[in-house]
Amino acid sequence: MRVTMIGTGYVGLISGACFAEFGHDVICVDRDFAKIAGLRRGEVPIYEPGLHDLLRANVGQGRLSFATAIEEPVRASDVIFIAVGTPSRRGDGHADLSHVFDAAREIAPLVEGFTVVVTKSTVPVGTGDEVERIIREARPDADVVVVSNPEFLREGAAIHDFKHPDRIVIGTNDERAKNAMTEIYRPLNLNQAPMLFTSRRTAELIKYAANAFLATKISFINEIADLCEKVGADVQEVAHGIGLDNRIGPKFLHAGPGFGGSCFPKDLRALIKTAQDHDVPLRILEAVAATNDTRKRAMARKVSAVFNGTLRGKTVAVLGLTFKPNTDDMREAPSLALITALQDMGAQVRAFDPAGMGRAQDVLSDVIYCDNAYDCAESADALVIATEWEQFRALDLQRLRDLMDCPVVVDLRNIYRPEEMHRYGFTYTGVGRSLAAPAIANTASFDGLASLAKSAEKASSL
Ligand SMILES: NC(=O)c1ccc[n+]([C@@H]2O[C@H](COP(=O)([O-])OP(=O)(O)OC[C@H]3O[C@@H](n4cnc5c(N)ncnc54)[C@H](O)[C@@H]3O)[C@@H](O)[C@H]2O)c1
Repeated sequence: MRVTMIGTGYVGLISGACFAEFGHDVICVDRDFAKIAGLRRGEVPIYEPGLHDLLRANVGQGRLSFATAIEEPVRASDVIFIAVGTPSRRGDGHADLSHVFDAAREIAPLVEGFTVVVTKSTVPVGTGDEVERIIREARPDADVVVVSNPEFLREGAAIHDFKHPDRIVIGTNDERAKNAMTEIYRPLNLNQAPMLFTSRRTAELIKYAANAFLATKISFINEIADLCEKVGADVQEVAHGIGLDNRIGPKFLHAGPGFGGSCFPKDLRALIKTAQDHDVPLRILEAVAATNDTRKRAMARKVSAVFNGTLRGKTVAVLGLTFKPNTDDMREAPSLALITALQDMGAQVRAFDPAGMGRAQDVLSDVIYCDNAYDCAESADALVIATEWEQFRALDLQRLRDLMDCPVVVDLRNIYRPEEMHRYGFTYTGVGRSLAAPAIANTASFDGLASLAKSAEKASSL
C-alpha cells in the first residue's frame, strides 16, 4: 500500500520505517526542514536502538523516503497517518491539537480517490470527529474515512513494540477502512497480534485509559514505597508479592522518582481535562497527577536529608538524565525537577547520561556535563542515580568510593543492594526499601560516614 506519515518524530519515524519493513511504500513528511534534510543524508534525529539499521535497509530498498512537501505523497496515498505532536496546551493542560488540525487542513484539498486518514497521534475523544469535519468542510466530495489507530510503542523498545504489539486498536465502523487497516497491519496479523476493532471514540479513549492506568500503577507503588520507608518494609518485596497475583501483574510496579516522558504526564492532564469538560471528574487520576508532580522535586530532599537538610557548597553527581534508559528524550524527565531542586538547595550539579546530554543542555543550565560515570562522580559529595541505564548497574564500587569526596549514594531506581553498598562504605538511600539514611553533619569526615554506613547496615538487618 502507499502510505504517507505526517510528522516524522518518535512515532512517525518508527511507524513509517516499520510499515516500510512490512513491504509498503512509505513517505515520511515533516515540516522540520533540517530533520528531513538530515534523514535524507542518513542521519537519525533520535536515539532509538535498531532504528539506524532499519532506516538504512528500507531507504536502500526504495520503500522509504522523506519529504517536506505533502502534495505529491498525499495525492498518491491509500492511507495517510497523522503522527504529529499533541503536547499539553500552555496554561490549561488540555491537549494542544493545533498540529493535528493543521495536518487535516493540509490534507483536505489534496486527497484523491478513496483515502483512509488515520490519527496515530494521541488525541482526546472526539478529535476524529473534528478531523472529519475539517476535511468534509473543505472537500464535501472527498471519499475519505477518518480512523483512530492509537500507538502504544515505548521509546527505547519502540521497534520491538511496533512489531510485537500486545494489540492493534482500530477505531472505525467503515468496512472499507477496516479492510485497508487490516491490509496495512497484515504481517502483524499473521503473527497473531490481536486487532481490536472499535468505534472511533472508543479507540481514542482506550489510549488515554491505558496510559492513565499505567501511571496510576506507578504512583500507587511510589506511595507504598514512602510507607515502606516509614515502617521498615521493602517495597521491592511488596511489589514482587503483589505482582505475583495474576490480577495485578508485576509490571509498572517499580518504585522510583515519579513518571515522566513525552506521554504519561501530558496524557494524564489531557484525560483529566476531558473528563472535567464532561462533568465526570476523575478523582483518582487527579491524585495521581498531583502526587507525581510533587514527587520529582521531593527526591532532592532524599539527598539533602543525608546532609542535615542543606546542600550549600556540596557537589552532587547525577547519573542519568533521560526519563528512562535507551532514549535521548528529555521531555518531562524527573531529572529536570530533581536537578533544579538540588540547585535551589545550593548544590553544584555534575551530570552524565549516555544519550541525553545534548537535549539536556537545551533545558538545564549551570550543570557540568561529564564524559562518563566515574568522571561525574569525581570529588562529588553525593551521587544520585536518576535513570537506570544498563551501564550504571555494574559500576566499580571501590573505584566510585575512592573518587568521591563523600561516599553518599542516593539510588532513585533501586538498582543496587543496600547491603552491598554498605559493605563498600557508602551511605546509601534507595526508594522504599532501606530504612531512612541517617543524617550526617556537614563536617562529617569520611570515617564518620563509614561508621554511619555501618550503623545503617546494622539497622537494615534488624
Ligand atoms: N513518543 C512516544 O513514545 C509516543 C508513544 C505513543 C504515542 N505517542 C503520541 O504520538 C504523537 C507524536 O509523538 P512524538 O513523540 O512522535 O512527537 P514528536 O514531537 O517527536 O514529533 C512530531 C513531529 O511532527 C512534526 N509536525 C508537526 N506538525 C506537522 C505538520 N502539520 N506537518 C508535518 N509535520 C508536522 C514536528 O515537526 C515533529 O517532527 C503524540 O500525540 C504522542 O502523544 C507518542
